[in-house]
Amino acid sequence: MTRHAVVTGGTGAIGTEICRQLAQAGHRVTAIGHPAEAQRLPAWRESLQRDGFGIGAELCDLSDWDACVALAPRLGEVDILVNAAGITRDARLVKMTPEQWRAVMAANLDSVFNLTRQLIEGMCARGHGRIVNISSVNGQKGQAGQTNYSASKAGLHGFTLALAREVAGKGVTVNTVSPGYIDTPMIRQVREEIRVQILKEIPVGRFGTPADIARAVLFLVDDAAGFITGADLSVNGGQYMA
Ligand code: CAA
Repeated sequence: MTRHAVVTGGTGAIGTEICRQLAQAGHRVTAIGHPAEAQRLPAWRESLQRDGFGIGAELCDLSDWDACVALAPRLGEVDILVNAAGITRDARLVKMTPEQWRAVMAANLDSVFNLTRQLIEGMCARGHGRIVNISSVNGQKGQAGQTNYSASKAGLHGFTLALAREVAGKGVTVNTVSPGYIDTPMIRQVREEIRVQILKEIPVGRFGTPADIARAVLFLVDDAAGFITGADLSVNGGQYMA
């Protein structure tokens, strides 16, 4: 059945691939990007169109409650919500500034509350919904230099667990996907020698791809996945096994 899927961070590396795979599965897809991406949006849209994907796009600062209130009517009915927007501001705690802490909390956690809060009642009223929150291996195991990011990503799975219980009886599932180190611009920001070290910790012997993550999301948002809720699906090449 064709569903309307919304993907936050939908213009990023992982988000774009999730959009593509959702569209390939026959869904109508709307990507949400940050207003700062306005300039690169036309090129993003064109490259998808060249590949035959007609994916809608909205720009919104999801960390802003009022902006999310204004966005909701433009989205209309949403059946699938993938919360994939996220940022890093890495620094050891001894050096971390309040701005670095707050920026990560706002982008990674406030955003999820702000948008999910707009859409959850509609999903419950219609008796169907799929929410997938994109967390991180570093929310599961912790990562030196990421007290802000690890806290936000661990918090995200707490959100999943609590909401999953609230809406389980309404046909709405809420799950987490926890990617490991995926070959994206976010990872490429990490210093070369640290990246080499991290690669050695991945038993599969490679960084993940956005397609590895999109595959897991597609599995969880399927109509037939209604008995899976409150799960945290690790997609990390074996880097962390719990
Ligand atoms: N564990 C414990 N201590 C560590 C450490 C580690 N993994 N790495 C560094 N340290 C210690 C060092 O031993 C050193 O200690 P001393 O000063 O006592 O000698 C100190 O930290 C200095 O290390 P750096 O030179 O690295 O410090 P820095 O301030 O220049 O850089 C940093 C800090 C930017 C956080 C850098 O360490 C870094 O980039 N780390 C990697 C963080 C990371 O993995 N980010 C993931 C980004 S991708 C992502 O987040 C996506 C996802 O979901 C997986």
